[in-house]
Amino acid sequence: MKIMVVGGGGREHAIIRKLKENKSIEKIYALPGNGGIAADAECVAIGAKEIDKIVAFAKENKIDYAVVAPDDPLVLGAVDALTDAGVPCFGPAKNAAIIEGSKVFSKNLMKKYGIPTAKYEVFSDAKKAIAYLETAPIPTVIKADGLALGKGVIIALTREEAVAAVRSIMEDKQFGDSGNNIVIEEFLEGPEVSVLSFTDGKTVVPMISSMDHKRAGDNDTGLNTGGMGTIAPNPYYTDAIAAECMEKIFIPTVNAMNAEGRTFKGCLYFGLMLTKNGPKVIEYNCRFGDPETQVVLPLLTSDLLTVMMATTNGTLGETEVKFSDGAAACVIAASKGYPAKYESGFEITLPKQTDAEIFVAGAKLDGDKLLTAGGRVLGVTAVADTLENAIDKAYAAVKTVKFDNIYYRNDIGARALKAKEN
Ligand code: AMP
Ligand code: GLY
Repeated sequence: MKIMVVGGGGREHAIIRKLKENKSIEKIYALPGNGGIAADAECVAIGAKEIDKIVAFAKENKIDYAVVAPDDPLVLGAVDALTDAGVPCFGPAKNAAIIEGSKVFSKNLMKKYGIPTAKYEVFSDAKKAIAYLETAPIPTVIKADGLALGKGVIIALTREEAVAAVRSIMEDKQFGDSGNNIVIEEFLEGPEVSVLSFTDGKTVVPMISSMDHKRAGDNDTGLNTGGMGTIAPNPYYTDAIAAECMEKIFIPTVNAMNAEGRTFKGCLYFGLMLTKNGPKVIEYNCRFGDPETQVVLPLLTSDLLTVMMATTNGTLGETEVKFSDGAAACVIAASKGYPAKYESGFEITLPKQTDAEIFVAGAKLDGDKLLTAGGRVLGVTAVADTLENAIDKAYAAVKTVKFDNIYYRNDIGARALKAKEN
């Protein structure tokens, strides 16, 4: 079989590595991939948002199955375009990807179908939003409606910060048209859990739970990033909480999307907060998380391609999806300065031998040299029998990776280990 994976980050590298375990796959193309992915797939210089070119490439190269991984092409309708061209595809159609593409849509969906989430108001007018903030409970959370590279959420600790956030999103258009509408919502507290799930629109199968570390600095300080590391499973996510989420969140969401005529197929990501009033949805993503995928897929013991195809074909209910009993930790090696200003172009030296998996997120090839080419450069994942051992192994491995200006957090998994003790 010939497979095509759209995207070019650490998540796509982890997907490609897992797919390669299936021996019926003869060839994997990555569009555009990156300098590190090039060791595992043939990279093609077509951007993830160039939908016409992606479809033309798939037809010319007789692709048997396509995986669209990032949010942008999904929200733009890449799966619809490929499906129309006769290329079966993993991922939701455009009318279902809106669950991530519009926060106003997802909040209204949850309200309509009684799915637990933070209380909220929607505004399309900055003056009305600012007037509302005069009496809104503080802290409060301001969210741009559309996609904003993971940066469209502002936690305002004071009224002044909240007003400034509204002005920068709605008047200064910090996130362009993504900020034409905003959601102002209740500030929630509690441990966060990421649950990625496979769904064919009938059955929903949660994957092993994970925990992201979004802030740039140790002890959750500094700016929000795309994610500086992950661990799986998430110790806060007990069997009882999992059962409650299945009943009150996962199944109701899949049913709600069907009822709206927006059947969701692919990976539906639930960003949850475990509040003292029960689990609540913080966000939905219409795709695999990055860097959650880098800890979740190494623990999958079933064949990824079989499971993906079952979501497309509607046969997930008859398909085995199993995870190992072990644990995984991923430490992101980033360029110093990320997510703000950083320098690129430094040579990366990888260890000749390692018992970790190194997923490349931001790198390019210069001859046979691998150079840094992004904020998040590598994800170093280790799998072990216990979380503690996985964390130790991941840190031992990240220390064997060299490039100038390397930066990583030193406390990935520390909070999870503490939670396990209690
Ligand atoms: P998102 O971009 O939607 O993943 O949001 C980024 C982060 O903001 C989340 O991971 C949470 O830590 C935080 N966040 C979002 N919504 C809320 C909320 N209602 N209350 C508290 N924190 C939130
Ligand atoms: N790691 C969070 C996300 O993929 O959105």
